[in-house]
Amino acid sequence: MNQPVIILALALCASALDNGLMSTPPMGWLAWERYRCDIDCENDPKNCISEKLFMDMADRLSEDGWRELGYVYVNIDDCWSSKQRDKDGRLQADPKRFPGGIKKLADYLHIRGLKLGIYGDMGTHTCGGYPGTTLDKIELDANTFAEWEVDMFKFDGCYSNATVQAQGYPLMTKALNATGRPIAYSCSWPAYQGGLPPKVNYTQLGELCNLWRNYGDIQDSWDSVMSIVDWFFENQDVLIPFAEPGKWNDPDMLIIGDFGLSMEQSRSQMALWAIMAAPLFMSNDLRTLSSGARVILQNKMIISINQDPLGIQGRRILKEKSGIQIFQRPLSKNTSALLFFSRRADMPYRYKTSLAKLNYTTGSYKVIDVYTFKSLELKDSTEFVVSVNPSGVVMWYVTAPAKLNTRLYFRDGLDQAPVREQVQNDIPVLL
Ligand code: GLA
Repeated sequence: MNQPVIILALALCASALDNGLMSTPPMGWLAWERYRCDIDCENDPKNCISEKLFMDMADRLSEDGWRELGYVYVNIDDCWSSKQRDKDGRLQADPKRFPGGIKKLADYLHIRGLKLGIYGDMGTHTCGGYPGTTLDKIELDANTFAEWEVDMFKFDGCYSNATVQAQGYPLMTKALNATGRPIAYSCSWPAYQGGLPPKVNYTQLGELCNLWRNYGDIQDSWDSVMSIVDWFFENQDVLIPFAEPGKWNDPDMLIIGDFGLSMEQSRSQMALWAIMAAPLFMSNDLRTLSSGARVILQNKMIISINQDPLGIQGRRILKEKSGIQIFQRPLSKNTSALLFFSRRADMPYRYKTSLAKLNYTTGSYKVIDVYTFKSLELKDSTEFVVSVNPSGVVMWYVTAPAKLNTRLYFRDGLDQAPVREQVQNDIPVLL
């Protein structure tokens, strides 16, 4: 290589994020949607942004089976810091609300096998009006977070402009690399650029960040979930190619267990986020979560769809006039997820189709309904009916049993599976 080529290669190496993290979408808990900027610890001690809130959530994650399912991040959002930097110019936690400081909180989480995320802003102030990270403070703040043993950093974009952001987001990648600590990097940059090319350079983002917020904030309502879903699937051809292990589009938090969604809608959010290979950050109260919400959020089959190692973001394949929409995500081991979603508001809709009509090749398949655990064998040509509730989903995990080496399961080493299988000729009705 001649010299300019070597220099260019080095420059590129140094500027790409190299933490090796998030080979599958991150999972955990994030304060913002549910707790906002509640700093009134005197009157609202249980819900205010304080170390107590994050320790409470850490206790729940580690004691109620969440951690084992992959929900390991406990992420602080805005309003954690003091209104002033310290005498050396460093960010500092609000001393009243975080008396132990962030390092102690990180220790508390690490002992429990959890990870800590923190929040900052590439501008003069955070969106909530707390000290921001201007260009001159990027290295200092990255080093502070590394000293505190933080594991993830969300970099917001209020109170700045396009020019500053174009410098700041890549500089933070370099600064995080330079700390030597693997710190996952969540960039809100594209959300401030309108989310689409040519303003957003997704190739560059993939080199700089582990995940990125493309669109507006989620609120505690079905309307909000739907506006996010519509945006992500209307722009799926742009977004899908850039999702891969270590690099994720982020449609924002799960609001399951809060106030705005019915049980049907909660099942829909979980299913749609799994199809999108989205980060799964719950923003809810794990101390008082209903058992219904818990069952949805702890559904192992949906989590494994979300966490599939291929990391392919799924797509909407059909938008029927009836209001039924169909989504599909290719998964490892020749399997896939198939989702039927109803945008109707009247009654359960009986949708009739076949796997052949939904892009499946000739063959026989086993489908498992991930919410009812019912399973069914279907030929590609078999017509079937799914009944989809208003604002609800039916989600299937689809495998092709013909491709499995079933001989391993039989004494004489011969494939007896076809003999044991019952051929189903009727039109099966699910649910
Ligand atoms: C922005 C972000 C939110 C949250 C708030 C905090 O609106 O998009 O996710 O971090 O700021 O003020």
